[in-house]
Amino acid sequence: MTFFGFRSKSKIGVDIGTSSIKVVELSKESGRFKLENYGLFELESIDEAVKVSNQALGDKPVQLTDRDLTWGVKEVLKRAKISTRETVASIPSFSTFATIITMPYLSEEDIAKSIPFEARKYIPIPLSEVTLDWSIINVAQEKAGQFPPSGGQAPGGRPPTVEIFLVAVPKEEIARYQSIMKNAGLNLRALELENSALIRALIGNDLSPVAIVNIGGRSTSILIVDGGFERVGHNYEIGGFEITKSIARSLGISLKRAEELKRSFGIKTSDNNAVREALSSLVDMMAFETKKTIHNYEDQKKTKISKVLLVGGLANMPNFADYFGEKLGMTVSLGNSLARVIVPAGAVRLQAEINSTFAIAVGLAMREV
Ligand SMILES: Nc1ncnc2c1ncn2[C@@H]1O[C@H](COP(=O)(O)OP(=O)(O)OP(=O)(O)O)[C@@H](O)[C@H]1O
Ligand SMILES: [Mg+2]
Repeated sequence: MTFFGFRSKSKIGVDIGTSSIKVVELSKESGRFKLENYGLFELESIDEAVKVSNQALGDKPVQLTDRDLTWGVKEVLKRAKISTRETVASIPSFSTFATIITMPYLSEEDIAKSIPFEARKYIPIPLSEVTLDWSIINVAQEKAGQFPPSGGQAPGGRPPTVEIFLVAVPKEEIARYQSIMKNAGLNLRALELENSALIRALIGNDLSPVAIVNIGGRSTSILIVDGGFERVGHNYEIGGFEITKSIARSLGISLKRAEELKRSFGIKTSDNNAVREALSSLVDMMAFETKKTIHNYEDQKKTKISKVLLVGGLANMPNFADYFGEKLGMTVSLGNSLARVIVPAGAVRLQAEINSTFAIAVGLAMREV
């Protein structure tokens, strides 16, 4: 039974990845989120049919059409028996342009006027083809407390500077996602960047510098969050799919079998280390890129990143977090996207996997609309 004003209507977060579609349904009960339902749809199952017909044998992930994706979204909702239609969906990081710009802080109105001019310097496609969004992440004053909160010149000093997180999303991408959601019968309330959803789900009120590494099927993204805001976001085209391919090649087995071995042995040391050897150089590359990003940030900002959180499907690979931590020389843990969510007893067993694989979807479903 629900009481008006006590339990709010639930919402779903929909994360369309390159290897699977993830959906999480959350409700809010007395101010706390509660996991109502979730579901995952492996896109490889649509993929398989295409691969068999063109004998490409998966040298790269097959590009699915928007119709396939619509079908996949409908299918996951049906299988998980999710009836809520209120939706927040994500836009993948690799299709957006994000940067941090620094400018003098006069007033917010002034910033709004200057943004399009500034954006032109950083965004490689015409501004008429993108939607711009920005938020102030930091105001640097000469001395603490010396700048007026509404901007303007600090008494006796130069104007403070402001750091702005600027993002441009191609309008075409927005329209694509709108139509996929609409055709799936969903009521899309907001579209959001993957990284913003991750920050909401994983960081909470933590203001210390944290690195989040999201390893998906096609790519890995490395995100540095400081003061609760995204400061660095990098994408690398290595993900779980490359790892599966590498296992298949070195052992001369099918992709399907390689995927099974990846999930059961991962990077564990065992009597037979063939799987570990087949994938370790790719994981080493991921660790190397992560380390570089972390060190660059630490040097530049004269700060120390003490926490590395892993999310994405590959984070569940046996022994991955420990191995990655060793390579980084840092403590690495799995991101806990359900830390602030009430989890019903029936889902507790799967909590570790939901935490990392569904982290983006959890963050999306947490968004106020
Ligand atoms: N238990 C597991 N062990 C090892 N690998 C796993 C496990 N579960 C999922 N994966 C791998 O994780 C990858 C998919 O992760 P995820 O669902 O985060 O990707 P995606 O969001 O669809 O892709 P992308 O973010 O690159 O678009 C696949 O390569 C899959 O094989
Ligand atoms: Mg993903």
